[in-house]
Amino acid sequence: MTRLSVALVGCGGVARRYRRIYARLPQVSVAVVVDTDLEEARAAAAELGAARASAEFADALAEPVQAVVISTPNYLHRQQAAAALQIPLNRLAEPEEVAELIAFLVSERAAYITGQVFTIDGGASAVGCYSYETYKRQGVPG
Ligand SMILES: NC(=O)c1ccc[n+]([C@@H]2O[C@H](COP(=O)([O-])OP(=O)(O)OC[C@H]3O[C@@H](n4cnc5c(N)ncnc54)[C@H](O)[C@@H]3O)[C@@H](O)[C@H]2O)c1
Repeated sequence: MTRLSVALVGCGGVARRYRRIYARLPQVSVAVVVDTDLEEARAAAAELGAARASAEFADALAEPVQAVVISTPNYLHRQQAAAALQIPLNRLAEPEEVAELIAFLVSERAAYITGQVFTIDGGASAVGCYSYETYKRQGVPG
């Protein structure tokens, strides 16, 4: 069975409950756990058999993982998710940036455009981030 290699960012709070679940999932292998509270990270690593515990977010991205699970306080999600996705523009899209394209496509000005795929991802797929080919190379199950 191919195992999904995962980094956990934020191991305290509600993630203490999630830890028990990850430990029971045979399809998941936790490679690295990160928490600014290093004791918490070490406890999680011991519980999950993770090779590495760290207090530095950058360490979660240094490992060749296939998923990053973010369980930190809400105000950190946007910045950490954008970094984990390795988006060349280094930020998530604003809703308006998607809405502008949709407004154009449903307008008369786009009447002659048919069957196109428009990618709005800050350049992520252009550099191979989370493309199907990348997932296949990494052996992501499913
Ligand atoms: N508490 C709940 O019942 C609950 C339920 C569902 C979802 N959530 C969501 O889970 C997320 C975390 O909530 P919580 O209640 O566990 O918060 P919490 O503050 O109790 O725990 C957050 C953990 O993240 C760590 N942390 C803080 N900054 C960090 C950083 N920069 N890098 C790495 N680790 C860092 C903290 O040390 C702590 O261990 C939130 O998005 C929350 O909405 C919480």
